[in-house]
Amino acid sequence: MTTIMPLAEIDPALVEDLLDIAFGKQRIERTAYKVREGMDMLEGLSLAAVNLAENELLGSLQCWPVALTDKAGKMHPMIMVGPVAVYPDFQGEGIGQALMKGLMKELSNDADLPLVLIGDPAYYDRFFGFSSERTGGWKMPGPWDPDRLLVRAPKNAVLPEKGKLGPWVKTTAT
Ligand SMILES: CC(C)(COP(=O)(O)OP(=O)(O)OC[C@H]1O[C@@H](n2cnc3c(N)ncnc32)[C@H](O)[C@@H]1OP(=O)(O)O)[C@@H](O)C(=O)NCCC(=O)NCCS
Repeated sequence: MTTIMPLAEIDPALVEDLLDIAFGKQRIERTAYKVREGMDMLEGLSLAAVNLAENELLGSLQCWPVALTDKAGKMHPMIMVGPVAVYPDFQGEGIGQALMKGLMKELSNDADLPLVLIGDPAYYDRFFGFSSERTGGWKMPGPWDPDRLLVRAPKNAVLPEKGKLGPWVKTTAT
């Protein structure tokens, strides 16, 4: 029985172990980590899948504040989803989808920001409507496979055709 709960309630060391197993220890060199460098996880949107009866962490999903900076230097805020990770022993049991559904539920009051992630389109398009259709002109602070840079946004959302993804560093007006 899987319960979806706030990731902030889980010991961070357990989450790090899960991510090491799902992605390997080299994961911190990945481009996704550079995109959200220096940002704090969005606690309200970051979730854990647990088996409460066994007191066991099964999976996790984190979200981060990022932005696409267009040619004019304007920042377009987005929510970066990921990593999404499920322990190998529990993969294929619907836990990844439960985490993503949990995120969609949390977002329902604030659904306007585009969601961006680096992942397998076969999974994230099939279940959640993420696509690389509108990200072809986007750049990243490291190597990436354009087919895996995915966004989910309302059809009428204004998304720059070109820009670079990076941390959402808010500038203060002077
Ligand atoms: C990708 C991941 C999060 C999916 O979670 P999960 O709980 O195993 O998946 P679910 O049980 O929700 O969904 C299972 C379905 O998705 C499919 N699926 C799972 N991973 C897939 C992938 N990477 N690409 C395409 N399809 C995938 C399965 O074949 C299955 O399809 P079926 O229902 O037709 O048999 C999980 O497998 C994982 O942690 N993988 C390693 C880390 C990773 O690659 N994370 C994603 C990048 S952020």
